[in-house]
Amino acid sequence: MNVLVIGSGGREHALCWKIKQSPLVQKVYCAPGNAGITSEAQCVDISVSDFDSLIDFAVKNSIELTIVGPEQPLSEGIVDLFEENGLKIFGPSQAAAELEGSKVFSKDLMKKYKIPTAEYSTFTDLNSALSWIKHINLPFVVKADGLAAGKGVIICNSTSEGENALSSIMKDKIFGEAGSEVVVEEFLRGEEASFFVFTDGKNFIPLQSCQDHKAAYDDDKGPNTGGMGAYCPAPIVNDKIRKKVIDSVVVPTINAMESEGRLYKGILYFGLMIKGEDIKVLEYNCRFGDPEAQPLLFRLKSDIVPIMDCIASGKLKQVELDWKPGYSVCVVMASSGYPGKYEKEHEIKGLDSFNENDDIYVFHAGTKYSNSKTVTNGGRVLGVTAAGEDLVSTINKTYTAVNKINCPNLFNRTDIGKKALKYL
Ligand code: AMP
Ligand code: GLY
Repeated sequence: MNVLVIGSGGREHALCWKIKQSPLVQKVYCAPGNAGITSEAQCVDISVSDFDSLIDFAVKNSIELTIVGPEQPLSEGIVDLFEENGLKIFGPSQAAAELEGSKVFSKDLMKKYKIPTAEYSTFTDLNSALSWIKHINLPFVVKADGLAAGKGVIICNSTSEGENALSSIMKDKIFGEAGSEVVVEEFLRGEEASFFVFTDGKNFIPLQSCQDHKAAYDDDKGPNTGGMGAYCPAPIVNDKIRKKVIDSVVVPTINAMESEGRLYKGILYFGLMIKGEDIKVLEYNCRFGDPEAQPLLFRLKSDIVPIMDCIASGKLKQVELDWKPGYSVCVVMASSGYPGKYEKEHEIKGLDSFNENDDIYVFHAGTKYSNSKTVTNGGRVLGVTAAGEDLVSTINKTYTAVNKINCPNLFNRTDIGKKALKYL
């Protein structure tokens, strides 16, 4: 079959890399893709938000399965539109994608179905929110309701920080309409982990756990980013925690969505806070994580195409996933200044120093070709990924690879994976 992947980040590069290996697939296309994705797929210059052109492309190129990488098109209803046009697509409907698209919706759902999460209140009126925060414990967290490119969560250590956060979201509208409503919630302590399941809305297949590193700099310092690196599996999610996540979070969420008439099909991402044996849901995402997709798919031996195809057709067949033993680690190399302002068009050298047989792969995110050179074209630029038998040697292998990449405008965290070592 011909497959179309929508998106242009490291997650989509990992998806194309994995999908290309499927014996079921003749040709992979990616819209719009990036420089690295051209090694796996034919990139087509169509934006992720240009649904008419994507549908037209899918029809003309006999695409049998479309896979959506990022959240924005899912929230805008791309799945509903493809299906109305008789095209098979992997991802949740617009109504189901509200699980990520509206934090108020997801918090209310968790409350209604007793899924563990932080205590919270929601506000559409700035003055009510301002009075509320005078009486709650510090720190607390202010969240814009809608999608805000990963920037809509502000941790407030004082009431005045809370006042600034609320005013900038609700009055100055720094996130536009995404900030018409806000969630104010209890600050949770613990360690974060990401958990994913494939689901058709009734049945599900769990994947292995990952841990992302959201802060820009070492030791979780600096501003929050889309994610600066991840490893898989996350030993904090031991067998006992995994079972608890499935029983108290995964099953009730899938059932809740069905009861609400919003059957969820696709990949469902649970952002968790874990403290001892206590698990709480921080957020849901309606897609693979980025960078988590890179270390996750790098270790997955099973073919994902039949699983995604069955889900897109509405019926998941249970299969046991097969994984490479050991660990995988992905270190993100980002443009200096990210997640704030950064320059583009810096040449990246050293990309041809790797051999896939060594279990190392460099997934591209913000890259493009310019005059036959690979240059930077975004905030997160590369996801240097390696797999190995044990975590320490895999971390070392990944950083040895990072050091072979030469671009003075890139920076990376030097402590990806370190948090896991205490569990080993
Ligand atoms: P979210 O998009 O809701 O996952 O929030 C982004 C990041 O903000 C999370 O990955 C956490 O690092 C942090 N965060 C969100 N909610 C809380 C909370 N209630 N307590 C502590 N940290 C939080
Ligand atoms: N890495 C976090 C996310 O994809 O939202």
